[in-house]
Amino acid sequence: MTSDLLELAVVIPTFNEKANVPTLVARLDQALRGVNWEAIFVDDDSPDGTAAQAREIARSDPRIRVIQRIGRRGLSSACIEGMCATAAPVVAVIDGDLQHDETLLPAMLDRLRGDDLDVAVGSRFVSGGGTGDWDRDRVAKSALATRLSRRVLKVDLSDPMSGFFAIRTQVVRDLTPHLSGIGFKILLDLLTASPRPLRFVELPYTFRTRTEGESKLDHVVALEYLIALYDRMFGRVVPVRFAMFSAIGVLGVGVHMGVLTALYLGLGASFLVGELGATLAALTVNFFLNNALTYRDRRLKGWRQLLDGWVSFAVICAVGAVANVGVAAFLHEVRDGAWAVSALIGVLVGAVWNYALSSKFTWGR
Ligand code: GDD
Ligand code: MN
Repeated sequence: MTSDLLELAVVIPTFNEKANVPTLVARLDQALRGVNWEAIFVDDDSPDGTAAQAREIARSDPRIRVIQRIGRRGLSSACIEGMCATAAPVVAVIDGDLQHDETLLPAMLDRLRGDDLDVAVGSRFVSGGGTGDWDRDRVAKSALATRLSRRVLKVDLSDPMSGFFAIRTQVVRDLTPHLSGIGFKILLDLLTASPRPLRFVELPYTFRTRTEGESKLDHVVALEYLIALYDRMFGRVVPVRFAMFSAIGVLGVGVHMGVLTALYLGLGASFLVGELGATLAALTVNFFLNNALTYRDRRLKGWRQLLDGWVSFAVICAVGAVANVGVAAFLHEVRDGAWAVSALIGVLVGAVWNYALSSKFTWGR
């Protein structure tokens, strides 16, 4: 018997999955007979036209909804937005590339009908599940990531990295202010954000092979995973973006010294010219690294945005340098501070200034 009331929302994060959309909708329709459901595609403005494809289907099937996010990227944040956009009491997340087993959805929903569970997780690592045709390399990386996750997890889950699960929508709404939203691992984010251990069940499924399109899990996503773990462990002490920004800044000092050595010692340029070149090089490297890593989710693209961004970053850092030197000189001379301590405090003030202003103006769209 179908309930009149909306029972389940299926959130489908997509990036370049156009070819998979019609098949997925057909399979959801099959798998969810007897359930009152809706599907919410959350697409990050895929160049292949995934959102338009989903809207095309939505015009004749009101169960299908589409959120098209412009100028934003990220699997986790897309899932969060989709999960918060439904009136259904239970929400599931499933990949848009047909790798997850949608026939598990009714069982997941059933397990959440009572009040005794919060999450039903599709697991590749309980008996009956599997990773399909993953090569040894990916199995090893996944196992490493799972082991690392145990450092932040309060519950003993076999597959905390799963991107396939169903959860009570109210739990998501309660946890959303505490989610990092970084990277791929939305389930881990939810589990670790919760002040009480979430009550879960794991249901086995076998990860399928992708036939259309390609995986977006790359090195940067792996780095984002480590960042998300950092955020959970130390994020309250030193915010993750500031930590990255500072690490990149330290790298910039290396670039500066390298270029200075090359110009001044190597090419025999004057010290002033060497310093100028070194400063510009360090500034530019810092700008692009922060754009690619620290602010990956709001990355500037195209030469116009990049040029504007670079100029504002340069201006901010120039003022930051003045603040750095000013504070150091003040502490050293007026307050009679030790020279090294004065210099370090100057650097810290400069770094905080650069970070605060660039996050607001350079990447503050
Ligand atoms: N909106 C949005 N934005 N969707 C994205 C983005 C993004 O930046 N990146 C990826 N997606 C979508 C893909 O289009 C796909 O539907 C789904 O998220 C999974 O992405 P894949 O690139 O296919 O990931 P995977 O198959 O390598 O990894 C999956 O399996 C892992 C299990 O090890 C994901 O489900 C992971 O979350 C999961 O941990
Ligand atoms: Mn996939």
